[in-house]
Amino acid sequence: MDRLGRVREHGGMTSAHGVSLSSRVILINGVLFALGTALLAFSPATVSPRPLWSEVIVLAVGLAVMIVANSVLVGSNLRPLDRLVAQLDRARSTDPIERLPVPESGISRELAISVNDLLGRIEAAQRDSSLAALAAQEAERARIAQELHDGVGQSLTAVLLELGALAEQAPPETAASLERAREATRASLDEVRGVARQLRPHVLEDLGLRSALAALTTELFTHTSTHVSRGIMPGLPVLDDAVELVVFRVAQEALTNVARHAEAATVELSLAQVGGDVVLTVADDGRGIRSGATGTGLRGMRERASLVHGNLAVERRDGGGTVVRLEVPW
Ligand SMILES: Nc1ncnc2c1ncn2[C@@H]1O[C@H](COP(=O)(O)OP(=O)(O)OP(=O)(O)O)[C@@H](O)[C@H]1O
Ligand SMILES: [Mg+2]
Repeated sequence: MDRLGRVREHGGMTSAHGVSLSSRVILINGVLFALGTALLAFSPATVSPRPLWSEVIVLAVGLAVMIVANSVLVGSNLRPLDRLVAQLDRARSTDPIERLPVPESGISRELAISVNDLLGRIEAAQRDSSLAALAAQEAERARIAQELHDGVGQSLTAVLLELGALAEQAPPETAASLERAREATRASLDEVRGVARQLRPHVLEDLGLRSALAALTTELFTHTSTHVSRGIMPGLPVLDDAVELVVFRVAQEALTNVARHAEAATVELSLAQVGGDVVLTVADDGRGIRSGATGTGLRGMRERASLVHGNLAVERRDGGGTVVRLEVPW
């Protein structure tokens, strides 16, 4: 039976000795009231219809004794709970929420065990839903890629073939413009294929992260003046599929941004293990990102990082250029 089950079976929060908190408080108060009543009934002390000062003082001292005894006994039972609430308050401000220390015994022991158990379940549920969101995102991308390939891609191919057939029979004065139309169609077809390829990282599934990153840099920078250097640490730990996908997607967006916006002479991509984290950095020496820049690309990178409990930083570099740094626990 799980810990939560054990607590439930007790029919409420009980101490290690099986006495519930409410029973203890009632017992303590009952004993004190019984003692006070017994003292009044069997001691020579009496209270006159018009109480004398000496009697008032005796009553006041008796009441004070009862209040002190009550607060000591009830307080000693409730103090562990106060401590637990304070610990929970502190733990809430950490990310991820820290587990509570479990006392040796007493009422707060079961409570701490239950809270820790609950925190574990919440974290597991959060992780499951993050992974489901990631999988849904990828499935949607794959569907769009397929649509682009089968829909727009096929239509453009048909137009290209049609234009080719027309060009063969066309008189010389229209042949040149037909050739331009074919060129434009071919360029659009290439673009559609490129977008479809980016939407669906086949290489990641087929070749693994290392080769997929290599293919990505080659694809993006082969026909540009930007020089690429790659530093992928050998012997990286085996990563979760979800983590691999996030690393790949973040690298893809960061490198695409370099190609589109940075006007950089060089870009360095590195992937390494630092402590318990896998760290991806994409650093360029271009014009540098302006502060407060936002866009779908940057937002998407942040969202993806948080889905696998990672951290993403996009900063201007001191010597000029931009660094994107993704840290993901593995
Ligand atoms: N490496 C970089 N160097 C310089 N500027 C950059 C770099 N990366 C991003 N930026 C700036 O940050 C802005 C936001 O980037 P983001 O990727 O969110 O959007 P985008 O690339 O313009 O469009 P998309 O949504 O297609 O990615 C860019 O428009 C660009 O001005
Ligand atoms: Mg972008």
